[in-house]
Amino acid sequence: MIIKPRIRGFICTTAHPAGCAAHVNEQVEYVRKQGSVAGMPKRILVIGASTGYGLASRIVPAFAGGASTIGVFFEKAGEDGRTGSAGWYNSVAFEKAAHAAGLYAKSINGDAFSDAIKQQTIDLIKKDLGQVDGVIYSLASPRRTHPRTGVTHSSTLKPIGAPYTAKTVNTDKGVVHDITLESASEQEIADTVTVMGGEDWEMWIDALRAAGVLADNAFTVAYSYIGPDLTWAIYRNGTIGRAKEDLEATAKRLQDKLGKTGGHAVVSVNKALVTQASSAIPVVPLYISLLYKVMKAEGLHEGCIEQIYRLFAERLKGGAPTSVDEAGRIRIDDWEMRPHIQQAVAKLWPDVSTENLDALSDMAGYRTEFLKLFGFGLPGVDYEAEADPVAPMPSAS
Ligand code: NAI
Repeated sequence: MIIKPRIRGFICTTAHPAGCAAHVNEQVEYVRKQGSVAGMPKRILVIGASTGYGLASRIVPAFAGGASTIGVFFEKAGEDGRTGSAGWYNSVAFEKAAHAAGLYAKSINGDAFSDAIKQQTIDLIKKDLGQVDGVIYSLASPRRTHPRTGVTHSSTLKPIGAPYTAKTVNTDKGVVHDITLESASEQEIADTVTVMGGEDWEMWIDALRAAGVLADNAFTVAYSYIGPDLTWAIYRNGTIGRAKEDLEATAKRLQDKLGKTGGHAVVSVNKALVTQASSAIPVVPLYISLLYKVMKAEGLHEGCIEQIYRLFAERLKGGAPTSVDEAGRIRIDDWEMRPHIQQAVAKLWPDVSTENLDALSDMAGYRTEFLKLFGFGLPGVDYEAEADPVAPMPSAS
């Protein structure tokens, strides 16, 4: 079939296998060019490994450190006449690149929140690797079925305490408009914490330890976001921010458990970037498009792969945090949060409108990045050619 992007609001319902492979290979090449990172832990489990920050967190240990990786994700395989999800094609491409480089790489596709997938992962580690030295937790999900109660909780992206009106952009149409978001109920706050907070991360670490498959000095890292005043009401002070506070509190509990045997548990606060998860948050895409404009002009722009390379090369060396903030978090959002960057974005914010969006912001760059997430717009890919949507996972055969 000929595969074209089909965009519905903030998602693209199609993905291009060759384009996703080109996107993965671009990231692999970036890491190869940067060179290897000394002391990289050698057996890595990535939960949420197929797109965005998690995919980069699989590529960096593999290609900068020769690590064996197991990736867990929830994606759709392609069928005749129907494309799979980008994360599926990314993972197929990652495995191919890893295997070609002589690296171990296997993947588990299913609900990471479930006991069954945790057990399947433990069994695979036991069988193939014995133990893992690092666990990267990079899930972003709109819902979670709790493994103890069977109740499905949905996360919401709402302010807390009072309704909030702010500028936002329809990234598809390029229209800037005001949006008013009602404040979240207590139930919505609790549900968002259940989905995106730290409980599942802790369940993973507890399960891995109990099964004896986590090495004594293993590290675990999960990703958080803080951001500026402009997004404060919807992000850090909103429902998702509560979940991130819970995630950060979980890191401290996990540090108490892992620290006893020389391990580390830490949260890394990352930069705002175009991913499938962030494009669903109101206000944030407009902020990102202004941020990209300013950071590119300053030569400070980074994508997921640059962020995660810097994380492992400089901040989480050998799995041990080298420098953390007053709350014990790694801050690779440091360039985003530099005062002059934030001042420049804040100066543009009141002026940006539908009419001047392309001039003031990097909406073009935002759209390019968004399409790349689904494998579109990659150089060297013939998008007019017939593409086979069926792509078996190499490690499954
Ligand atoms: P993403 O949408 O690109 O990736 C989400 C990953 O989770 C995918 O691999 C997906 O398959 C997996 N997943 C979702 N539900 C699952 C389930 N039930 N079982 C197994 N796997 C499942 O998201 P992104 O943006 O890379 O987010 C990862 C983490 O980074 C999140 O915690 C997010 O809050 C954080 N972060 C993101 C920032 C951004 O601007 N994108 C900034 C700072 C932190």
